[in-house]
Amino acid sequence: MKDVYILGIESSCDETAIAVVKNGREILSNVINSQIPIHEKFGGVVPEIASRCHIEVINQIMKKALAEANIELKDIDAIAVTQGPGLVGALLVGVSYAKGLAYASGKPLVAVNHLEGHIAANYLCFKELEPPFLCLQISGGNTQLIEVNGYNDFKVLGKTRDDAVGEAFDKVARVVGLGYPGGPKVDNLAKEGNPVYDLPRTNLEGLDFSFSGIKTAVINLNHKDPNINKADLCASFQQAVTDMLITNSIKAINQTNSKKFVIAGGVSRNSYIRKAFTDLGKEMNLEIYYPEPILCTDNGAMIAAQGYFNYIKGERADLNLNAVPNLKI
Ligand code: KG4
Repeated sequence: MKDVYILGIESSCDETAIAVVKNGREILSNVINSQIPIHEKFGGVVPEIASRCHIEVINQIMKKALAEANIELKDIDAIAVTQGPGLVGALLVGVSYAKGLAYASGKPLVAVNHLEGHIAANYLCFKELEPPFLCLQISGGNTQLIEVNGYNDFKVLGKTRDDAVGEAFDKVARVVGLGYPGGPKVDNLAKEGNPVYDLPRTNLEGLDFSFSGIKTAVINLNHKDPNINKADLCASFQQAVTDMLITNSIKAINQTNSKKFVIAGGVSRNSYIRKAFTDLGKEMNLEIYYPEPILCTDNGAMIAAQGYFNYIKGERADLNLNAVPNLKI
């Protein structure tokens, strides 16, 4: 069978990322231009600045991605782009650029759901991984338990009713004065502390999550005692969040009889969560998968990987393609 080369374009938040992936599994290049240093001084992503930064660099990133993959645009089979969810202005830069490129080159255009892309990051790391499996999607904007029945067949079993888990990490980090991006900073500081604070674990009926209670509890503790040991607070927060993720994951595993459990999204980079799920895998005799750290956060390779599966299924977008900031699985 002929090899299929997909160019994947990602611009949903503060990374301008473009990659070339062969047959949905092999990364030939994965160029990521992070805007973290620009947004750091504002304590979070400023949408308008993010859009402008994407515009400034996207063409160079595309050229770099082709050069590193040692491939020319004429040899690319299709152009895949993140359609949503994300910041509308940021998404529009990638979508408009991809449409222009597809029109000028005559290549097919394929729309990709960013959340499906995060799941597909695992196909790049584990060549043997195939659906069906159960997936815990934990990122800055989403927290969901998803039954993945095929490369294009998803069923959401539960989701957060308020904050996404990454959002809670970022807010806690801001309150305790760690700055942006908060997740990795909480992860690092927690290693120096102990989970001495008994924080509330919200356990809803069914498989939905809620993280606003624990976030508020951390904020209140911090306000009551500004000299509180921040490392202990971070360790307690991280442990409580992980407990909630594990509780619902066990419920979902038992409900679906899954033997394969995949973790996806930026928060899957968290060292404590990775260890907790690895231990759970041993305990419950499950295969646990999570992507290597660079593929956990936003990247073009995951968009190219999911783009491949959409492409071979026959999905095509046209020049009316628009960004959808609240796109769902
Ligand atoms: O998946 P992602 O790159 O963007 C979205 O699609 O949302 O996730 C970004 C989120 C941020 O909230 C960031 O703080 C969090 O992932 N994150 C972490 C870690 N690394 C990134 N959260 C906890 N621990 C980490 N090590």
